[in-house]
Amino acid sequence: MSPVRQSFRGKELKPSESLKIDAFSMRIADIEGVELDRLHALSLSVGWPHRAEDWQFLRETGHGFVALDEIGRVLGSAMWFEHGPDFATVGMVITSPRLQTLGAAQWLMQRVFDKIPQRDLRLNATRAARRLYLSLDFQPEKTVYQCQGIARVPTTESPAEAPGDIRILDASDIPATIALDAAGFGVKRPALIERLFAHSVGYGLFDGNKLTAFALCRPFGRGHVVGPVVAESDADAVAILRPHVADHSGTFLRVDTHMDSGEFAAFLSHAAMPVFDTVLTMSLGKRLADFAARGEASPKTYALASQTLG
Ligand SMILES: CC(C)(COP(=O)(O)OP(=O)(O)OC[C@H]1O[C@@H](n2cnc3c(N)ncnc32)[C@H](O)[C@@H]1OP(=O)(O)O)[C@@H](O)C(=O)NCCC(=O)NCCS
Repeated sequence: MSPVRQSFRGKELKPSESLKIDAFSMRIADIEGVELDRLHALSLSVGWPHRAEDWQFLRETGHGFVALDEIGRVLGSAMWFEHGPDFATVGMVITSPRLQTLGAAQWLMQRVFDKIPQRDLRLNATRAARRLYLSLDFQPEKTVYQCQGIARVPTTESPAEAPGDIRILDASDIPATIALDAAGFGVKRPALIERLFAHSVGYGLFDGNKLTAFALCRPFGRGHVVGPVVAESDADAVAILRPHVADHSGTFLRVDTHMDSGEFAAFLSHAAMPVFDTVLTMSLGKRLADFAARGEASPKTYALASQTLG
């Protein structure tokens, strides 16, 4: 059947070249009850690599809101991840491309602020989101380099003597990993590290019985992501990353790092994981420097758990 045709005095009328659609309203809902497929469709709409399983992991790890239209379509999201009573990270802030620049992200962020008032916040802002977060008083901190590619163990370098024993981590290493992660990140994240352990293979560098560096690696997006990586020196960070690169040689591997130079950054580029994009770490409340460990040999975070988690 042909569509309804309009006519006037027997003459067919051409359909108008434009159509005004009424603005619609959105309601806020807890991210918990939303079908994973719908969340996945939202992140795909902005070109993000998350799989449904990655959303599920994030949902189990944190909290969030979604913006829904009248028929339950997911048009926006914002999540937060609490670590202790005073601190949280924010991530998965997305609004559907058709709705961008209309204030939806501001609205979602205000709801997040209402839920976690008084906390120090940290996030990693895409270029598209910088203005949003600046208008919410977040302060720029430092660049995150998203390094990725089909990994291969560099053939150009001869690996330095391992600065200790490297072995696969098991559940008995969780407390030491939590402590080392806290020294690098500035905040203790026991629940997150335990959850990451359940999804990751981890290598640890040991000086006797003492864990001095670690790197976790888990499935994510198009392949695997390595993070967190925490170590006291570039050489240790490279030593602990190398076995993951070997394990995933020939497949897609990603590392998000603040390191713009030095041995670790050079290793990533030699391992066929060049910089693909950058984001900006921003904070609200306490600054990054306020969380930094003091001292020469203090452990540093060489790779984030992920852009979303920090
Ligand atoms: C970043 C993103 C969440 C912003 O969502 P949004 O709904 O467009 O944001 P809002 O409409 O609430 O805008 C917030 C502010 O940013 C400004 N803004 C938003 N998009 C802009 C653009 N493309 N160019 C210039 N300014 C822009 C708005 O004018 C507003 O500024 P103001 O507070 O000074 O008035 C959205 O673009 C998005 O989902 N992008 C892809 C995913 C992404 O990068 N997420 C960020 C993760 S950190």
